[in-house]
Amino acid sequence: MFDDTPPRHPWREARPETIHVQEVITMSTTPRLEAPTSNASLPTTNSYDEVPYESHPYSQTHPSRLATIATLFGLTPPSVEKCRVLELGCASGGNLIPMAEALPESWFVGVDLSGRQIGDGEKIARSLGLTNISLRHASILDVDETYGTFDYVICHGVFSWVQDAIQQKILDICAKQLSPHGVAYVSYNTYPGWHMRGMIRDMMRYHALRFDTPDLRVRQARALLDFLAQSARQDGGAYATLLRSELESLRHQADHYLYHEHLEDVNAPMYFHQLAELAGKHGLRYLGEARLTTMVTGNFTPDVQKALETVATDQIQAEQYMDFVRNRTFRETLLVHDDVTPNWGIRPTNIYGLHITTTRKVMEAPSDLRSTATVQYQTKSGMTLSTSSPPLKAAMRVFAERWPRTISFEELNRTVNGLLERESDDGEALALGLLNTYIATDLLELHAVPIIAATAGEKPVALHSVRVRLAAGEPGAANRRHELFRPSELDRKLLPLLDGTRDRAALLDSLTEMAVSGELTVQADGHAMTDPVEIRTALGPVLDNSLTGFANAALLVD
Ligand SMILES: C[S@@+](CC[C@H](N)C(=O)[O-])C[C@H]1O[C@@H](n2cnc3c(N)ncnc32)[C@H](O)[C@@H]1O
Repeated sequence: MFDDTPPRHPWREARPETIHVQEVITMSTTPRLEAPTSNASLPTTNSYDEVPYESHPYSQTHPSRLATIATLFGLTPPSVEKCRVLELGCASGGNLIPMAEALPESWFVGVDLSGRQIGDGEKIARSLGLTNISLRHASILDVDETYGTFDYVICHGVFSWVQDAIQQKILDICAKQLSPHGVAYVSYNTYPGWHMRGMIRDMMRYHALRFDTPDLRVRQARALLDFLAQSARQDGGAYATLLRSELESLRHQADHYLYHEHLEDVNAPMYFHQLAELAGKHGLRYLGEARLTTMVTGNFTPDVQKALETVATDQIQAEQYMDFVRNRTFRETLLVHDDVTPNWGIRPTNIYGLHITTTRKVMEAPSDLRSTATVQYQTKSGMTLSTSSPPLKAAMRVFAERWPRTISFEELNRTVNGLLERESDDGEALALGLLNTYIATDLLELHAVPIIAATAGEKPVALHSVRVRLAAGEPGAANRRHELFRPSELDRKLLPLLDGTRDRAALLDSLTEMAVSGELTVQADGHAMTDPVEIRTALGPVLDNSLTGFANAALLVD
């Protein structure tokens, strides 16, 4: 029943590519439980040098998103186009470097304890020629006033995994080095959800630490969980259900994630109210969550909503009770100075200065925009929004046409009025409809600065950082939406060629050469093609498709 094949990292394997192959990055096999190789613990001083974290963009940490939440709550955050950003625990800059590329007039500082990860990041920043970023091999404890002040401080995936003194220092930095209207982002594991998850972590750690190497430890942690889930299967009770659901979620997680999330020495989740209280002691105040949907009771049943409104007298309590109801495990909390007062009753006019798009390219059902026929839209997470509102339907059409670019609220309102052939309207009703949709679903995105992306011109250009990262063999790179793009094998070959020097014919020549040299396999009816003329003809439509896909994925620039 157990398969002994080691976990595979397909992107690290050198092999000829075929244009039919898609990347698969999930664990394909389950290792079996083995006898321990050692009782000694590995030195844990720098586990991120040993097992580097895949460093990704996190769109919810982007200053544009942080400024958006502050704006919605009635604050005036610092300009995103000219801001100073500090990231604590930046790994190899997968989050910070694409921000620096997109915001050339802003200044970015990243700090990480792992010299290996900082070195990797510096190499990428240098090859991009970026002069507005400094990645520093240092401890969070070393950050002092010589670093200066920052408008946005980001600390993602660090707070729960460091000792108490470092947690205190993180909040201290947020308090002392945040500009007066700045916003800090801190993510952390939270209770009550982590009580259950912590039990799984304890068992995996107990077993895994009996093995010598990080690789073995990860494999054995997976093996133990699988063994437990199978062993508990017979009883079908709550314990078995919990184990199976954890197994299922870990099956899709990469090894580096499992290692650092579950096998590290420190993992110190806290309740939301504890974090809010701790922040208060440092002179900080709760602003909101990076994902605003989780702050409102509207998605609960009316009974639950009513009970929550009865029992909670302020926003902190309301969210704490919602965490109890949801069994929440993770939070992405935004903090401001305690002399700044957010207004959680959002006014529709607060979105007038923002830029809007959808979370994915949404195709609409055909409809007469001015009729009140209901149209349904599928959100990224599979939710369905039904609306009969002509302005909202018109807005959705505009978003689809402009995808992946944003549109300012002002221009959107003008365009919607034109589509509905109506007199100019001040936009308040449209703003209210958009705001309600934004809060209740994951259909819409609001940004403080526009997302600018291009279609494939005569000589297409892909983002510089995408070309550099993929050419360096990295598994993915950030697009203009600050999301991770994971290329297929063909994309990996094609994107680095899009430097603005090649037209479609030259791109076809390069791909054909790769196919002839065996670097890329082009198949017809299950057989590799060998004739260059036939290969070039077959690649024509494939290239067109890819270029359209890159434009839709916000990878192209002018
Ligand atoms: C789980 S990783 C998260 C990396 C990145 N922020 C992300 O979310 O992808 C934690 C990072 O924090 C860094 N780190 C841990 N303790 C640190 C400290 N005391 N000072 C600076 N960096 C630290 C680690 O080296 C590692 O890169």
